[in-house]
Amino acid sequence: MKIIVGITGGIAAYKAPELVRLLKKAGHEVRCAATEHALEFVTRVTLETVSGAPLYSDLFASGRTEHISLKDWGEMLVVAPATANIIGKVASGIADDALSTLLLAFSGKPVVMAPAMNCEMWAHPAVQRNVETLKSWGIRMVGPAEGELACGVSGVGRMAEPQQIVDAIGEGATLKLNGERWLVTAGPTYERIDSVRFIGNYSSGKMGFALAEALAGAGAKVELVTGPTSLNAANPHIHLIRVESAREMYAAATEVFPRCHGAILSAAVADYRPAECADHKLKKNGSEGMTLELVQNPDILATLGGMKHEGQTLVGFALETDNEEANAQRKLEKKNLDYIVLNSLRDKGAGFGVDTNKVYIIGRDGSCTESPLLSKQEVAQLIINTVTT
Ligand code: PMT
Repeated sequence: MKIIVGITGGIAAYKAPELVRLLKKAGHEVRCAATEHALEFVTRVTLETVSGAPLYSDLFASGRTEHISLKDWGEMLVVAPATANIIGKVASGIADDALSTLLLAFSGKPVVMAPAMNCEMWAHPAVQRNVETLKSWGIRMVGPAEGELACGVSGVGRMAEPQQIVDAIGEGATLKLNGERWLVTAGPTYERIDSVRFIGNYSSGKMGFALAEALAGAGAKVELVTGPTSLNAANPHIHLIRVESAREMYAAATEVFPRCHGAILSAAVADYRPAECADHKLKKNGSEGMTLELVQNPDILATLGGMKHEGQTLVGFALETDNEEANAQRKLEKKNLDYIVLNSLRDKGAGFGVDTNKVYIIGRDGSCTESPLLSKQEVAQLIINTVTT
């Protein structure tokens, strides 16, 4: 594989030549890119000698587009050591030197980082937030390890050993869903009654957004069709399509699905909508009550089940309050699904609005994977692992 090793300015940079040597020994082609500060710790001559290629460290040295030709060449980018500074820059989209510019241009290909810094810096909420952001984009972190640090204290912050980094690279050389496109539906739908009122539900979109992030983290391009929610997608490989009503969600999902490898429909779609929508605010009519006539919405999941072709995976959700398993099983068969994810509102901490969920992933083959109560991110990961094997 063609691997670019990015080196930033920390004491652990002295281990970078050893990492390059081990990667070459494992049969990889290696080129190095370093920040100005990295070259305070390890020399250009050393890096060029061990890699056998010119070092990329100056954005302006040989024309302004070397970061583009280098990113076209590389199949993987490994940053070791990765300082708090480079982690923060990438998380914020800052490209102010050769390596940070290369990192932002290196999209759609695997990136691995081996963080190394003082333990207090590693524990800082800003660094932890930035690390979580990078992970949600699919960047893999190897380490840091616990041990003695250059500043004399002990704690978590040591760069993983070069051999550990080489081993981790082998495991994640290709992202599982690279080159695949997936559809996810999320959030509630709003069905208009008049110009100021609607019928809606309590879905926050958290489950659907976590699924989209997990899919994108595994290398997929994601079409995320979402009803009204305040959430935003972090991963640049998530294409957000915002809709309001069930019919708009139906139009977007049926348009996208034929180009997808699979779809996971977690949206809480209104089964009914008002037969008519007034274009003004409806007024109270004396002391009498009001009757709202409802008509059925199209069933998006059942429609996709009818459209599904060989090789596509279709996953639905079922939100049940009684006879949970039997009802979920019925939906699985009736809507031609490969898996159904059952949410029981009887499980505490599961379902609408909360940050956690507890699910049963039921397969067409009769398999059933039950999760404990987990964060919606962890549940999303479990669902992706189960339905993409
Ligand atoms: O958004 P959160 O606050 O994180 O909450 C997550 C959730 C509770 C909404 C989610 O985990 C969940 O359970 N989603 C499914 C809710 C639901 O509408 O279930 P259902 O049993 O009514 O629908 C069954 C399946 O058909 C679902 O995949 C649904 O998206 C789909 N459907 C339903 C009706 C319809 N007209 N079109 C559909 O596609």
